[in-house]
Order: sequence, then C-alpha cells, then structure tokens
Amino acid sequence: MNVLVVGTGYVGLTHGACLSKLGHQVVCIDIDATKIAKLQQWEITIYEPGLAEVVTEGYKNGNLIFSTSLQEHLATAEMIFIAVGTPPGKDGHADLQYVKAVATEIAHHITDYKIIITKSTVPVGTGDMIQATIQKILDARKVAITFDIASNPEFLKEGTAVEDFFEGERIVIGCDNPDGVALNKLSELYQTLPNTVLLKTDLHSAELIKYSANAFLAMEISFINSTAQLCEKLWADVTVVAQGLKLDSRIGKKAFLNAGAWFGGSCFPKDVMELAETCRSLGMPNGLLDATLAINDAQKKSIVDKVLTLLPDCTGKTIAILWLAFKANTDDIRYTSALTVVDALLERWAILRVYDPQAMKNFRHFYPDLTYTDDAMSCLTGSDCAVVLTDRKEFATLDRNKAEMNMHQKKLVDARNMYDPTWFKAQWREYISVGR
Ligand code: UGA
Repeated sequence: MNVLVVGTGYVGLTHGACLSKLGHQVVCIDIDATKIAKLQQWEITIYEPGLAEVVTEGYKNGNLIFSTSLQEHLATAEMIFIAVGTPPGKDGHADLQYVKAVATEIAHHITDYKIIITKSTVPVGTGDMIQATIQKILDARKVAITFDIASNPEFLKEGTAVEDFFEGERIVIGCDNPDGVALNKLSELYQTLPNTVLLKTDLHSAELIKYSANAFLAMEISFINSTAQLCEKLWADVTVVAQGLKLDSRIGKKAFLNAGAWFGGSCFPKDVMELAETCRSLGMPNGLLDATLAINDAQKKSIVDKVLTLLPDCTGKTIAILWLAFKANTDDIRYTSALTVVDALLERWAILRVYDPQAMKNFRHFYPDLTYTDDAMSCLTGSDCAVVLTDRKEFATLDRNKAEMNMHQKKLVDARNMYDPTWFKAQWREYISVGR
C-alpha cells in the first residue's frame, strides 16, 4: 500500500520505517528540512534501538523515502497517518495546532478518496475536528471528495519501539464510517502481523483506549510509589510487596509496579494531564487521575529528600547523577526525573557531575554548565554522593572497589531500586533506595 506518515519524531519515524519493512511504500514527511536532509543520509535523529537498521533497509530497497513536501506525495497515497507533535498547552490540554495544520494542507490538495488516520496521541474528538476542518475547506473549494477519518493509536514504548511494532499485543483501529472501507484497508495494512490482536472500534473509543491505557499504567506506578512511601514508614519492602501483587493473574506479572523515581517521558505525564482536563471540562473531575499526578509530583520531592538525608548541606558538595533519560535505552529527557533533581540540587549550590550514554547531548542543551563525563566511573570520581535516576544496570557491573577509591564519600541514592540493599547497606552504609 502507498502510505504517507506526516511527522518524523519517535512515533512517526518508527511507524513509517516499520510499515516499510512490512512491504508498504512509505513516504515520511516533515517540515523540518534539516531533519529530512539527515534522514536522507540515513542519519537517525533519535536514539531508538533497531530503528537505524529498519530505516536503512527501507531506504535501500526503495520502500521508504523522506520528503518535506506533503503535497508532492499526496496524489499517490492511499492513507495518511498524522504523527506530528501534540505538546501540552498552557491550559493542560494537548496543543493540536500541528495536527490541524496537516489536516488543512491535506484538504487544500486532495483530489480523490483518502483515509486520514491519527497516530499521534490526540484527545477524544480530534478525529471530529479533523473531519470538520477538511470538510469546510473542501466545501470552500466546491469539490465533492470523500474521505474517512480513523484513529490508530500507537502503543510502542520508547527503547523497545521497533520490537513492540512487530511483536505488539494489539492494534486498535477506530472509524465511524459504517461502509467499513477504511477499517478493512487498515486491517490489510497490518495483515502480515498475524500474532497481534486487531480490535476494530468506533472513532471515539479508539481515541479513548489510548488515553485510558496510559492513564491506567501511570496509575499503577503512582499506586506502587505511594505504597513505597508507606513501606518506608512500616519497615516493609516495596519490591516484595510488588512481587506478591504480580503473582495475582488479575494484576499480572508485567504490571507497572516498579517503584522508583516517578513516571516521566513524553507520554504518561501529558496523557494523564489531558485526560484529567477532559474530565474536568465535562464537569466530572476524576480524583483517580488527579491523585496519580499528585503522587507523581510528591515522588519527585521524595527523591530530592533522600539526597538531602545523605547530604543535608549540599553547598559545594559534588554529586554524581547517573543517567539522565526518563528510562533506559532512550535519549529522551522529557519529564525525566533528572530535570527536577538537577534543578533542586543546583538551587542548593551542589556541584554536579553527570553521565548518560544516550541522553547527554539533549541534556547539555538545557544545562550547558554541568560537568559531563565520559563514563559512569569518571562521573563518580571525586563525588560525595551518587544518585541513580534511570533504570540502567551498568552501575551493578562497575568495579565497586575502584568506585569506593574514586569517590570522596560512599553515599548512594538508588532511586530505581536497582541494587542489592543488603550488600550496599552493609558495605556502604549510607545507601537509600525507594520503599525498602
Ligand atoms: C508509554 C506506554 O508504556 C506505551 O504503551 C505508549 O505507547 C507510550 O507511553 C506512548 O503513549 O507513546 P513510554 O513512555 O515509552 O511508553 O515508557 P514506559 O516504559 O511506559 O515508561 C514510562 C515511565 O514510567 C518511565 O519514566 C518509567 O521509568 C516509569 N515506570 C514504568 C516506572 O516508574 N515503573 C514501572 O513499573 C514502569
């Protein structure tokens, strides 16, 4: 099939490249000419394991091309995925200006039937907005062109997005047109992924499934983070409590019950906020969502408090921040715990050394004056305390004797419960983790 994917961020680029691997003819569009020029040289602008290989393969076999012009490729496209950014606006709602701009451009230039699909996470009702935007322009053009609007939310996780695409648990496609053409075409698009359950729904339900899924997972994390706070008061171990919960198949062994440094990234914080605002604007505030966000905020403060427990006066003290991304295997620093912890420690006049193999470039953009180091051991050197914020495992394989010799003081805040508390409490003594 001939497919256009508009927007080459984490979602659009991964989706477009993976569709090309399924054998479709894909054009990935972006208005950012620098980004497109880089992609045309197979230079991937984001870090996502396995993505470079899929892009290179698609580019070499001619299934995947990159362009800045939507108009140029519109005529041949059967379906157009909108995967542009929907950043949170000042009012807490997702900002849909880029989605609307794409819909407007499509409406000005289409000449025959198209299926237009939202791939970015968009609030319920966005499909209706796109429908109305396009129809209004077609009416003004005085042309009778039919089109369908569908929702096909993505459930990919950063860091495993390529794997999730090919081994995904479900594909949700929603469309309101009862003739079924769009839903059938979309099913065809994914027919070579037979192990993935395909759920056909109406438009609003598909849009809501995406928000509900992320809100539910975020709620699990806030639940376990608040349980962790309780464990600290009751001398219980949150990792054991989570283990006990996961053994109940109604909760599940993959449940998001790892207590830690709070949920970050471009999805959970934004999506929970959006859903909470949607509920509020409908006059039915949702306490569960509000509590999920409030607990997440409290968790940020609690990690800073743990550092202050080990180093009550940070002035002039050197603190090593290990790993900056919002989770392992990504360069994404949106809503990452490191942003809050770094700000709080700089306010207290600490000297910060930082390290992350993928995310330092993005972080340096906002914090040019920190000391960026070449590896975890150099980061620890001369530090009075180490703070592990991302769930990378490398610290466990570091030469601990060398780390002890290189550090000025042996203090560790393990904000992800990555390490054996028995060993660290016995050997380093000044070790704090989360909820245990
Ligand atoms: C999330 C969802 O998991 C995907 O299904 C969805 O497609 C995606 O958002 C999206 O909407 O695009 P992602 O943001 O890549 O994916 O990351 P997750 O692996 O879900 O982690 C989110 C945050 O929660 C991270 O900061 C992570 O460290 C934290 N987390 C996760 C915990 O603190 N505890 C857990 O048990 C799990």
